[in-house]
Amino acid sequence: MSRPRVSIIGAGNVGAAAANWIAQTGLADLALIDIVSGVPQGKALDLQQALPILGTSVKVTGSNDYGPTKDSDIVVITAGVPRKEGQSREDLIATNVRIVSDVTRQVVALSPGAILIVVSNPLDAMVYTALKVSGFPKARVLGMAGVLDAARFRAFVALELGVSAQDVAGMVLGGHGDQMVPLPRFTAVNGVPVTHLLPKKKLDAIIARTRQGGGEFLPLLKTSAWVAPGAAVAQMVEAILLDQKRLLPCAAYLEGEYGESGLFIGVPVIVGAGGVERIVELPLDGEERRLFQETAQKVRETLALVKI
Ligand code: APR
Repeated sequence: MSRPRVSIIGAGNVGAAAANWIAQTGLADLALIDIVSGVPQGKALDLQQALPILGTSVKVTGSNDYGPTKDSDIVVITAGVPRKEGQSREDLIATNVRIVSDVTRQVVALSPGAILIVVSNPLDAMVYTALKVSGFPKARVLGMAGVLDAARFRAFVALELGVSAQDVAGMVLGGHGDQMVPLPRFTAVNGVPVTHLLPKKKLDAIIARTRQGGGEFLPLLKTSAWVAPGAAVAQMVEAILLDQKRLLPCAAYLEGEYGESGLFIGVPVIVGAGGVERIVELPLDGEERRLFQETAQKVRETLALVKI
């Protein structure tokens, strides 16, 4: 019997952070892959040396070639060029489509049964690229954005209310960008609807901050965040490896759900050993539906730029 294998392509900030969080779970051996010579090897070695302290026994390998990814159960794709200050996600598209296509081809050749979790931006377009290039069934290709966006929303609600973040459950739909749709009606503190606890003005401010959640880091760090994105990836990996059937907002391929077809967008998904096991359709009200259609339109416009 062997431990599951999770490969992470792109050993940059998010890839390395995801590796750290996953290694702490002890659930899987890890392969870190990057094009930059020495970086995946160095980060893997550093993480391997943290494990005696963290108390898990997994094996962490770093490499510039895909050999160590062979027969991965899950492959996380973070490879790409991150957004710079003042640059839109859309500007990244041509370069990152090339990178994600190349990575996907190499991954699929060695791990034809893997589940792909795509993180590279612009997310909804990159996960679409991975689906098309891999030829995998839609259940085995999903994008990480909603868990992160919802975590930001939940963190802001918790800070505003002065309550434990773990008690705040929250839902965010839509594309991973300024037009995402945080849903206060489906957000609660241990079952108490947040709409009972916060006035509309405060909630609106939290929603606006959540929508700009990624952008808030650029002036501070001159790049995107990585700790929370890595933790979000690790939560999805754990849900798959342990077949948890968690209800997580993920970018999933829609074929009629929410009135949309042929695109990836953030929706509530039951995540288990099969990947996207089920898409949960929420009964959206008129305004929520309008906002969802707006974000879907934005995703379609980005998709139109994808040349595979
Ligand atoms: N194959 C493998 N790795 C690659 C390739 C490639 N073809 N091209 C780039 N990389 C690697 C880079 O060398 C770098 O180490 O991908 C890594 C990306 O890491 P960072 O630049 O640190 O970016 P990060 O902040 O981790 O974001 C990763 O997630 O949020 C998105 O927009 C973001 O697309 C970016 C991705």
